[in-house]
Amino acid sequence: MLLRSVGGLAGITVLAPTALLTAYHDTAVAGTNRDGAAHYGLENGPFDVDIRLRAQPHTAPILPGTPSEVWRYTAELRNGPADTITPVGGSYTGPLIRLRRGQRFHARLENGLPEDTTVHWHGLHVPSDVDGQPRLPIKPGEAMTVAFDVVDRAGLYWYHPHPHGPNGGRVGFQSYAGLAGPLVIEDEAERALGLPAGDREMLLVIQDRSFAGDNELSFISRDMGTIGFLGDRVLVNGQPDAAREVATRPYRLRILNGSNSRIYKLAWSDSRPVTVLGTGGGLLGAPHHYPFVTLAPGQRIDLWVDLSANEPGEELHLISDAYEAGVMANVMGGPDLSAGARIPLLALRVTQRVRTNERLPPRLAEDLQAPPVGRDTPVRRFNLIGAFAINGRQFEGTTVADDEIVHLGRTEIWEFVNDSMMPHPMHVHGLQFAVVDRRQVGGRRSWAGLAAGLVDAGLLDTVLVLPGERVRVALTFTDFEGLYLYHCHNMEHGDNGMMRYYRVRS
Ligand code: C2O
Ligand code: CU
Repeated sequence: MLLRSVGGLAGITVLAPTALLTAYHDTAVAGTNRDGAAHYGLENGPFDVDIRLRAQPHTAPILPGTPSEVWRYTAELRNGPADTITPVGGSYTGPLIRLRRGQRFHARLENGLPEDTTVHWHGLHVPSDVDGQPRLPIKPGEAMTVAFDVVDRAGLYWYHPHPHGPNGGRVGFQSYAGLAGPLVIEDEAERALGLPAGDREMLLVIQDRSFAGDNELSFISRDMGTIGFLGDRVLVNGQPDAAREVATRPYRLRILNGSNSRIYKLAWSDSRPVTVLGTGGGLLGAPHHYPFVTLAPGQRIDLWVDLSANEPGEELHLISDAYEAGVMANVMGGPDLSAGARIPLLALRVTQRVRTNERLPPRLAEDLQAPPVGRDTPVRRFNLIGAFAINGRQFEGTTVADDEIVHLGRTEIWEFVNDSMMPHPMHVHGLQFAVVDRRQVGGRRSWAGLAAGLVDAGLLDTVLVLPGERVRVALTFTDFEGLYLYHCHNMEHGDNGMMRYYRVRS
């Protein structure tokens, strides 16, 4: 496909509108609700789902022995289907919030922490004011209510804090302390596929952590200033040594990389290919097979694994395989797991033989639509170089430069060029985009061993740009005007300023 770059940093040429806008009548409304909390979003109920989500200090069992001090989300269902909220893992992980496409969602967000926080709905297409952005913090002891329509495709999304104060971001610290949880959207089309469900569907939140004496979580790592935080243990749903008993049949694994900085090279211990059903924006049109899957912070992946050829007594391990992660990441000694270490993630222990005729469906989603691009689609370029900056600029609050204004209803190509030594998982708020192409434009560097596992199919909200690469994504700004963030989802990079606002306007 031929694409034209218009004016690099500064310019953008907008041509004919590419799609008809669906009018969205419920624009965000700020007000105050009955109990005095600030309110944003849909004003009027009835709401199909109403929850209370509270962030507060807690203790949670993680390693054997003393429970660790954490910050965590607790949720309570005030109205809606009984399966809307499910605990995950019995440790600090935020509960699974299960929504259905088409529902009207209402949440009261309570801050029981000693500092400002927000709740960001990562990946969801929601109005700016309910997006949990740093410009609308919830103060300690205060609450905010938000309401929105659930319009996204069925898939695995997540929620986490997004505060950023005068001394930098607190996303890394707060989510490290335990504030992050999965959010699943379901719909009829997905249900009709009959993918493995119930105890044959596993939800895995993968995060690395370090512990000091007495099981105290420690948020220090040797590479904090470059790679970001790397822990010396990898937890699944807040617990070490994850294992599940399985039968000889297919399973669906829905995985969120909720780590601050660590990139995983997901592979099977017996080297079988990794079968991908979906990405962050929901199911693919058909399953794709990869030698391994590269999963960067913020990203989700939906896998199919069939154990019907295994025997009871056997084990299959999901691992993060070793890779070359560059000079900085590999000179670390000591107990840390270097960025590219081989790490066991999940043991599947076959304990039961069953006979089923479940087969991998040859076709999956039928509603997958990439933003339409052509040779006239305007291209906006973002250079990733320098100390945690985008186009040489760091986070400046809600200040938006001329070249960070986009037009409602239009499709653009955003081109991320990584001229740094570090991989950057670039995340755009408020929408899902499609990867147009990925090219090596600089010299091949370290981290290149992750390239074969990059899943660029389907829709994404976070795309990993390896050093020396140029990745182009197509995005359409629909329905909502206002401010949204785009940033590196390496949380230490984002907190250090590799984050900016862009504005959607008509
Ligand atoms: Cu996962 Cu700006 O967020
Ligand atoms: Cu980065």
